[in-house]
Amino acid sequence: MRLTLRNVVSVLAMITFSVPSFGIEITQPSGIVPWLQNEPNLIAWTFVNGDPSNFSVIINNQNMSVLNGNLVIVAIVKTSDREFNVSNVTLPESPGYRLTFADPLNSNEIFAQSAAFSILPP
Ligand SMILES: *[C@@H]1O[C@H](CO)[C@@H](O)[C@H](O)[C@H]1NC(C)=O
Ligand SMILES: *[C@@H]1O[C@H](CO)[C@@H](O)[C@H](O)[C@H]1NC(C)=O
Ligand SMILES: *[C@@H]1O[C@H](CO)[C@@H](O)[C@H](O)[C@H]1NC(C)=O
Ligand SMILES: *[C@@H]1O[C@H](CO)[C@@H](O)[C@H](O)[C@H]1NC(C)=O
Repeated sequence: MRLTLRNVVSVLAMITFSVPSFGIEITQPSGIVPWLQNEPNLIAWTFVNGDPSNFSVIINNQNMSVLNGNLVIVAIVKTSDREFNVSNVTLPESPGYRLTFADPLNSNEIFAQSAAFSILPP
């Protein structure tokens, strides 16, 4: 690539938009595979050096009549674990669920958010 001013500007723009304040990225659930009630459901993530060393896993649904507010499904997970199975999911069947990874001591401090996914009967 020739280093024209235009290229430099677009590279800088890409860097600005692709570096979030935290590197944790939720890879599962990805929105493609649904969760099944009462079955082990995999939560997986990637992280980078300098990320917080632990987080809480919170679930919510955009439809308040499915789930009103935020439910903590795992109080504390070590970031270095890379994956975690939740096996006691008894939430109602619905699309529109989303996971949030947040600071265990301050759930307003959000580290990552998943794609929307469905929960279905087994
Ligand atoms: C969780 O992470 C924070 C900051 O990264 C650290 O200060 C705290 O000791 C950790 N707690 C546990 C239980 O690992
Ligand atoms: C919200 O959930 C309720 C209960 O499952 C359902 O009847 C309703 O159609 C849903 N609303 C939307 C906008 O999806
Ligand atoms: C989660 O469950 C899957 C399928 O049962 C299994 O392959 C995987 O090893 C489990 N991972 C952990 C961290 O328990
Ligand atoms: C699973 O069990 C844990 C510990 O009993 C609880 O905190 C969590 O809310 C449960 N998760 C669901 C989805 O019911």
